[in-house]
Amino acid sequence: MHIPVLQKEVINYLAPQSNQNFVDTTFGQGGHSLAILEKNKPDGKVLGIEFDPKLYEKFTIYNFQFSSNFQFSNRLILKNDSYVNLKKIVQEYNFRPISGILFDLGISSWHLEKSERGFSFRKKDEILDMRYNPEKTSLTAQDILNQWNKKEIEKILREYGEEKFAKRIAENIIELRIRKPIKTTSDLVRIIDKVVPASHLRSVTRTFQALRIAVNNELNNLKISLPQSLEILNHGGRIVVISFHSLEDRIVKNFFKENKKRGYLKILTKKPITPTKKELQRNPKARSAKLRAAVKI
Ligand SMILES: C[S@@+](CC[C@H](N)C(=O)[O-])C[C@H]1O[C@@H](n2cnc3c(N)ncnc32)[C@H](O)[C@@H]1O
Repeated sequence: MHIPVLQKEVINYLAPQSNQNFVDTTFGQGGHSLAILEKNKPDGKVLGIEFDPKLYEKFTIYNFQFSSNFQFSNRLILKNDSYVNLKKIVQEYNFRPISGILFDLGISSWHLEKSERGFSFRKKDEILDMRYNPEKTSLTAQDILNQWNKKEIEKILREYGEEKFAKRIAENIIELRIRKPIKTTSDLVRIIDKVVPASHLRSVTRTFQALRIAVNNELNNLKISLPQSLEILNHGGRIVVISFHSLEDRIVKNFFKENKKRGYLKILTKKPITPTKKELQRNPKARSAKLRAAVKI
C-alpha cells in the first residue's frame, strides 16, 4: 500500500472547505483524495487523474466502487489520462469552480513493488520497461539503453540522475550492449556494478530514476501542466506540488516566482516544506519530498 506523503501538510495548504471542488492530478491509490473528500463534505467533489491504466483499474475503480470507500464514490470522478491534458479533462467533465489542484509527482509504491515493469533494481530479472502507461507511451527503458547513443545516455544520467559516474556508466552500456542487449533490471545492475563498485547502490538508484524520468517525459509534462492548472483554478484557489527531484522542484519554484511577478500567484511556502522526522521514521520513501504551495490572486 502506498503511504501518502506529507498528508497533513497537503490538507493544510489546500485548505479544503465544505462543498469545494479539487483536482488530484496524480491519483495513485487515492490517499490524498480520500483526505480531501473527508474535508469537503457534503457536496464537494474530487476529480482524480491517473495515467497508469493498470493502477487505475486495480485501485481506483475497485477501491472506490466496491469497498468501504464507496461512501465517497458519488463525489469522486476518476479519469485514466495524463495531467498533460488537465485543461481538456476539466472541460470534458465541466468540473468548475476549482478550489485546489494537487500534484504528487513521481512513482507509487505499487510501481516499485508490484507492476513488474522494471522500476525497481531490487526486483531481479524484470524487463526494463518503466512506462506508466504502456498503452499510450512507446519509448521504454530498454529502447534508451539499447538504441540511444553514448552522449544521449550520458546526458540523461547526468541531468535526471545527477550521477557523477554518468560518462563511465554510459560507456559501459555502449560496450556491453554490442555483445548482449540490455533487457532486465539485473543486466543493468551488473553494468553499474562494474563501473562503480564502492558506492554502487546510490548509482543504481540514480540510474533507474533517470531512465524513468526520461521514459515518461516527466519534467516536460510538469512544465506543460503547471500553466494549465493556473488557468483553470478559481481566484483564491490553491496549487500544491510535491516533488521528489531537484529539477522538478526548480520547475515549480520558477513557475511560482514568475507568476508572482506577473501578479497571478501569491506564494504560501517561502521555502519548500519537507517531511518531519516522525514521518520519515514511518515512511523513509518520503525522504526527498518537497512541497510548495501558492494561491491564485
Ligand atoms: C506519488 S504517486 C501518487 C500517490 C497518491 N497521491 C496517493 O496518495 O496514493 C504518483 C502517481 O502519478 C501517476 N502519474 C505519473 N505521471 C502521470 C501523468 N502524466 N498523469 C497522471 N498521472 C501520472 C503515477 O502513475 C502514480 O500513480
